Amino acid sequence: MTQWQPDSWRKLPIQQQPTYQDQTHLKDAEQRLAKYPPLVFAAEARELYRQLGDVAEGKGFLLQGGDCAESFDEFNAPKIRDTFKVILQMAIVLTFAGRCPVTKVARMAGQYAKPRSSDLETIDGVSLPSYRGDIINNFDFTDASRQPDPQRMIEAYHRSAATLNLLRAFAQGGLADLHQVNRWNMAFVENNPLKDRYQDVAQRIQDALSFMEVVGINSANNSALHETSLFTSHEALLLNYEQALTRNDTLTGKWYNCSAHMLWIGERTRQLDHAHVEFFRGIHNPVGVKVGPGMQEDELIRLIDALNPHNEAGRLTLITRMGADNLADKLPQLLRRVKQEGRKVVWSSDPMHGNTVKASSGYKTRNFDAILREIQQFFQAHKSEGTHAGGIHLEMTGQHVTECTGGAYKISEADLAECYQTQCDPRLNADQVLELAFLVADHLKA
Ligand code: PEP
Ligand code: CO
Repeated sequence: MTQWQPDSWRKLPIQQQPTYQDQTHLKDAEQRLAKYPPLVFAAEARELYRQLGDVAEGKGFLLQGGDCAESFDEFNAPKIRDTFKVILQMAIVLTFAGRCPVTKVARMAGQYAKPRSSDLETIDGVSLPSYRGDIINNFDFTDASRQPDPQRMIEAYHRSAATLNLLRAFAQGGLADLHQVNRWNMAFVENNPLKDRYQDVAQRIQDALSFMEVVGINSANNSALHETSLFTSHEALLLNYEQALTRNDTLTGKWYNCSAHMLWIGERTRQLDHAHVEFFRGIHNPVGVKVGPGMQEDELIRLIDALNPHNEAGRLTLITRMGADNLADKLPQLLRRVKQEGRKVVWSSDPMHGNTVKASSGYKTRNFDAILREIQQFFQAHKSEGTHAGGIHLEMTGQHVTECTGGAYKISEADLAECYQTQCDPRLNADQVLELAFLVADHLKA
């Protein structure tokens, strides 16, 4: 293997990249970004690494979630707040009802680049470059909109910075106070069919807080009650951007990708001898890689060794996205092999990407029952193999969208048109996430 450099990926084949027309403009944007302040601090990435090390050893659970693709147009405080709330709400149910410490990682503040199944999109006989995420081009189906524009990397950076700033404020400035969370959760579930169940958890948390108050533990003297930590993550797909934010940490002398705490490689770009694996092997953040139903045992071991050569717990999260109908057939042998070979990884379930279907109306959707079934089978496979079901990875939003069918509100295919807002894949809405939280908590407790 050759010496790693932040730009050593450029010598290798690469998938899923835009073709920029103006290379001077691209270079200029990269050089500007490389001088901008990092978005996260390397020591924060090390803290997440440590927590994920605990998860790998069976002492915690990873909750990762957010939009499929963040959008420049939908960049506003209520949207960030509502997603923050729903992640926190799910984490509380998992922590309290599942009796398990939960590490929270948002798909936010940088989730702007998307892999696509085709380079071109054709509508009514007109073919244009596919939409690849707001960091690359614009969703509108016009020639000008679909041209990749390097300036969008700069815009994505500023939006990520502002998003992260608000997330930090929410996490540390009082919104995440357990008393508060309990209060806003009550209002949030007002009309939810799961209201009673949620209120029972909320009441028990309230009792625990009151008890602690009596014995002298309160928000004023214990930071655990009034702050939380929420890490950020995204698919590091557009390597021009990721390289520009990769910095040498002065405390350790190691390279970190400071565009987010955790980065992952998508299912379509994880080829061993290609650019993404090369880039990832040199950064010291905790990293993830998607594992689809086609993954072979030997290939997986080689990938693990490329990304985590020192076999450190916390470095690598394998995010399986098999599809509800494939998981029982594909996952157990991978779990067995990785365990046999003594590789330390976090296993997390993405129950979304293997369960995407097209509704008769044309909308891309996912069914709540299929999502749940994949999660249940994930827990079942880990139980049988004696490994730790370490986390879940969801596409979700705090908005009341109708993008996934099913759930307690029984969203039907005919309901999808009512509030279908995603720029990319269908997301669970706030109610569906809460429902899932209870079902996952039952598994965690078991
Ligand atoms: C995603 O997480 O949005 C995604 C594109 O997933 P995958 O790489 O697993 O298809
Ligand atoms: Co997606």
